[in-house]
Amino acid sequence: MKTNIVSTATGKANAYALFFVKKSIQFSNILSEEAEKQVESVLNGMNDGPFEDLEFLEIDNQPTIFVDAAKERGLSSLDHLRMAAYRLAKKASKRQIPVVSIMLADAAPEQFKSILLGLHYADYKFDAYKSKQKEAFQVTFEIVAGEQVAEFKKIAEVAAIENKAIVLTKNLINTSASDLTPAEFVENANTIAKFTPGLSIKVRNMKQLEKEGFMGHVTVGKGSSHEPYMITLSYDGSKGARGAKAAVKNANKNARTSADHLVFVGKGLTFDTGGLCLKPPKSMPEMISDMSGAATVLAAIQAIATLELPIKVSAVCCLAENAIGNKSVLPGDIFTAKNGKTVMVDNTDAEGRLVLSDGLAEAGLIGATHIVDLATLTGAMVRALGYAVAGFFCNDDALALNVINCGEACCEKFWSMPLEEEYADALKDHFADLKNTGSDAGAIAAALFLQEFVPENTAWAHWDIAGTAFVSKSWKYTDFGATGFGVQTLIELARRMSSASDESEDAANEDADGEYATVEV
Ligand code: BES
Ligand code: ZN
Ligand code: ZN
Repeated sequence: MKTNIVSTATGKANAYALFFVKKSIQFSNILSEEAEKQVESVLNGMNDGPFEDLEFLEIDNQPTIFVDAAKERGLSSLDHLRMAAYRLAKKASKRQIPVVSIMLADAAPEQFKSILLGLHYADYKFDAYKSKQKEAFQVTFEIVAGEQVAEFKKIAEVAAIENKAIVLTKNLINTSASDLTPAEFVENANTIAKFTPGLSIKVRNMKQLEKEGFMGHVTVGKGSSHEPYMITLSYDGSKGARGAKAAVKNANKNARTSADHLVFVGKGLTFDTGGLCLKPPKSMPEMISDMSGAATVLAAIQAIATLELPIKVSAVCCLAENAIGNKSVLPGDIFTAKNGKTVMVDNTDAEGRLVLSDGLAEAGLIGATHIVDLATLTGAMVRALGYAVAGFFCNDDALALNVINCGEACCEKFWSMPLEEEYADALKDHFADLKNTGSDAGAIAAALFLQEFVPENTAWAHWDIAGTAFVSKSWKYTDFGATGFGVQTLIELARRMSSASDESEDAANEDADGEYATVEV
């Protein structure tokens, strides 16, 4: 897919695309009066929706595709636009239309971004394991942007960076477990860090994890012939890599920077057999996706660093394989976690929370003020909310609201779940401080377990993405496999936290000495 953003139509298009909602056209202000009448008569002639997309109607003597931007149930208007653009791109490619023009002169920036992302989604395919790769027909989309050309070009750059992160996440998740071992994941992360300015990486192997007392991680990883690793990626956008305005401000104001340090923690089980508490065969193949959290946080921090967002962000990837071997953890084994609490392994299949206990400890060690952990953690969450909604748990109201709002802006649905204290006692063990299973409310039990390892005075959100990370039938703009869920909301969270700190910084600076001094840059 190629896009060409222009102010007025070039006349090179082989077809025009019009999006409609119910019976009215969206983004129509550059249609001629005559064309508007033709469009109206087409739409009025239709029955009640949802509508089939209509292809190649003559409007103003131009072949035009009408795309229903309200077709599916339960989606926001922005998500409808993504879906509409996705369907349009699939059709145009299948019909081998070289250039399709979309009139978006009166589209809002976020509407344009949604359409772009829909077009990008249509481009994704994962055929690395097919014996023959088929090349899809390349369509060029001419975006007629009127006076918004410059702004839309910037948005297109941002969308391309975000799409790259989504593609990276999906590729990592879709790769089979024997090809993406913890060591392979580390290699990918090393390459990313090397080629992303401002992104640094620290890798701990089994020996270092053991030496430093990250025993949850070691306990899970030691049963596999593939060594476990913990990766910590860091990007500090609060200094240096900021936008020009912020740099000017810092030059003048002795570098007042945000105190926030946002740390992502990702569950990175490159495969989860269940360990000695073996999973049934039916649910096992999908466990190639049990490293979705780690893939998502890696991709998100890469995008955040590339976008040079003015905030300090780190990402901790807890990589291990939950396998059966002669060193596998035995049910009933007890270990001491990094924060000193002792844990009895009641069920070896509840391994995600064990590696995450160390990821959370690492987040504390590096000075997190806000932690967001992502994990394909429980089957209970899949049963509760399915594949369209992620459940999240949070100890901080402001962060919780931010997650919901950022999710909404990114067409990713989050539902707030309770950290129900009444179930906390069920995690107590006879011998150890805690055991790794709890009440029947499985997703809540897992979240309560994690809460035991959250560093003090830290805002924390736990996203259980077991349902949303990977789909076994096509859903919205995703075929079978990884969805990339969470990448965009993480980026948006960093974006909003950085601009919120900028705003409070602005206010503080203005309080101190009135308007900013401006300098030439
Ligand atoms: N990786 C699984 C959770 C999962 C299930 C992810 C389905 C994606 C789809 C996790 O490690 C697990 O096995 N959890 C157990 C915990 C139980 C033994 C307490 C579960 O949910 O069954
Ligand atoms: Zn498991
Ligand atoms: Zn797991």
